[in-house]
Amino acid sequence: MRLWQKYTVSIVVCLLLLLLYINLPLGQNEYEVYGDPLIEKNNILCILIPYRDRWEELLQLVPELNRFLNRQHVDHRFIVLNQTDSNRFNRASLINVGWFEADRLHCTYMVMHDVDLIPLNPDLDYRFPGEGVVRHIAAGAYHPKVRYDYPKFIGGILMLTMHDFKLVNGMSNKYWGWGLEDDEFYLRLRDANLLAALERPGNLTTGRSDTFKHVHDDKHRKRDQAYIGNQRNLSRTRDRKSGLVSVQYRIADRRLIKIEDTVVAILDVKLICDKKWTPYCTLKRN
Ligand SMILES: *[C@@H]1O[C@H](CO)[C@@H](O)[C@H](O)[C@H]1NC(C)=O
Ligand SMILES: *[C@@H]1O[C@H](CO)[C@@H](O)[C@H](O)[C@H]1NC(C)=O
Ligand SMILES: *[C@@H]1O[C@H](CO)[C@@H](O)[C@H](O)[C@H]1NC(C)=O
Repeated sequence: MRLWQKYTVSIVVCLLLLLLYINLPLGQNEYEVYGDPLIEKNNILCILIPYRDRWEELLQLVPELNRFLNRQHVDHRFIVLNQTDSNRFNRASLINVGWFEADRLHCTYMVMHDVDLIPLNPDLDYRFPGEGVVRHIAAGAYHPKVRYDYPKFIGGILMLTMHDFKLVNGMSNKYWGWGLEDDEFYLRLRDANLLAALERPGNLTTGRSDTFKHVHDDKHRKRDQAYIGNQRNLSRTRDRKSGLVSVQYRIADRRLIKIEDTVVAILDVKLICDKKWTPYCTLKRN
């Protein structure tokens, strides 16, 4: 071969390699939904999972919910909101943070999802509910725990559009520790007239024990039900100020992991507490 021929061959080989490289899938760095051509592309569901130290539950939920949603042809993204500051758990603020991430991922609707509740009955509907419709999937009548069977209960698994969540300014940021944040959210939805079209599953052929799987963790930590200082008072009053627009936080890390074949975005979230407003956000005495 002459010199110019060698050069030509090398250049062609380089070009081919470049082309190959460009066409390679982005793999780990892309959010992907696996192998379902029927998946509806117009609406994307973001699954927001408020989280702290529930790895066993997450390992079970993600693959099972992924299969469940693929069967319903629901295009979806998993977002785990891992609270990494030393404050008490704040589920509502984590969900507010999750909304911003879901917005970044172009989701059109969201579901706030307990990590320990897995849907079993295929009639539980995770498809786009429509604007103005709030769907309470973990309805009290089918919830594994009887104590949640009260009319205003909207916890566990609740779905609504990104737009409607923003409309009510998300959830209150004053709930540190366990409970009551969803009851306050109920009032926000009611006042925005979003409960007129509240949907709950009904007439299912399954009951309390087999509509959802409730993942029991043996080393389950006790619920943080302490009331400190003015917390009891503050928790039972309406919050018309704080919410999506005022949640204070820092994303300490953002990474994609795979659980079985499912891509999951993990956000390490450091929530920032306004000690003047909610001095009960830590369990430590000052
Ligand atoms: C959540 O954050 C903690 C503290 O940084 C870390 O140890 C843990 O592995 C994280 N959880 C997940 C699921 O990545
Ligand atoms: C359940 O079935 C009854 C009778 O067919 C019907 O009136 C009712 O609307 C159904 N409820 C739901 C939630 O689908
Ligand atoms: C709770 O509110 C009531 C009435 O506003 C007040 O009398 C009471 O001192 C408050 N309690 C605490 C612990 O702040």
